[in-house]
Amino acid sequence: MCTSKVRSRSPEVPAPTTIPVLRTDRLVLTLPGPEAAAPLVASYRENEAHFAPTNPPTPANHLDVEAWRTRLRERRKEFRLDRSARFVAFFELGGPVVATCSLGPFHRGAWLASYLGYGIAARYEGQGLMTEAARAVIAYAFGPLGLHRLMANHLPENTRSATVLRRLGFTVEGYAKDYLYINGQWRDHVLNALVNPRPLAPSAP
Ligand SMILES: CC(C)(COP(=O)(O)OP(=O)(O)OC[C@H]1O[C@@H](n2cnc3c(N)ncnc32)[C@H](O)[C@@H]1OP(=O)(O)O)[C@@H](O)C(=O)NCCC(=O)NCCS
Repeated sequence: MCTSKVRSRSPEVPAPTTIPVLRTDRLVLTLPGPEAAAPLVASYRENEAHFAPTNPPTPANHLDVEAWRTRLRERRKEFRLDRSARFVAFFELGGPVVATCSLGPFHRGAWLASYLGYGIAARYEGQGLMTEAARAVIAYAFGPLGLHRLMANHLPENTRSATVLRRLGFTVEGYAKDYLYINGQWRDHVLNALVNPRPLAPSAP
C-alpha cells in the first residue's frame, strides 16, 4: 500500500525539456551550446594532469574544439530525450569554465536513479565551488527532474572527492573491486548514494 508521504509525478507532467540555467551565490550552471566548446577545451587542456588520475579513457578527439561543438549539441539533445543533464559551471555565461557536474544516464521506471560526476579546474579548487555547484545540480535532480536516487563513486585515495560527497549528504554504500578503467588500469571504487528526502513515486510507464 502506498504511503501518503510519497509524491507522485503526474504522467501528464513530463521531465523538463527547456535547457536549465541554475544560479548559485557564485556560479551559473547550464548545458551550454557549441559556443562553449573553445572554453571547455581550454580548461581541459590546462587541467590535463589534474584530471588524468581520475579520468576514464577519453576519446582521441577529446581536445578538439570542433568535436566538442558537436558533443555539446548532442548533450542538449540527450537532455531533451530525458537521458542526461551534463552541466558546465561558469562565474558568468560566456566566461571560462569553472567546473563540470553531470547527471547521467537517467534510469526511470521503478528506479528513478542517476549517476553524479564532477570535476573542478585546479585553479578553482579549495574554495567550496564544487560543493556549491553540485548542491544546485542535486536540487535540480530531486526537483524538476524527479529523480529518487543519485550515485557517485570515487577512487579510494580520492579524499577530496569523498569530502565533497560527505558535505552533500551522500553515504557510503559499498566498495567495488576493479570497478572502472581509470588512467590505464582497472581500479576499485567506493560507492556512495544520496536518496531524495522527498520521495517521488514513478509515473506510469
Ligand atoms: C574532487 C574535487 C572536485 C574537489 O574539489 P574541492 O575544491 O576540494 O571541493 P569543494 O568545492 O567542496 O571545496 C572544499 C574546500 O574549499 C574550502 N572553502 C573555501 N572557501 C569556502 C566556502 N566559501 N565555502 C565552502 N568551502 C570553502 C573548504 O574549506 C575546503 O577546503 P580544503 O580543500 O582545504 O579541505 C577536485 O579536487 C577535483 O576536481 N579533482 C579532480 C577530478 C575529480 O577527482 N573528480 C571527482 C571524481 S570522483
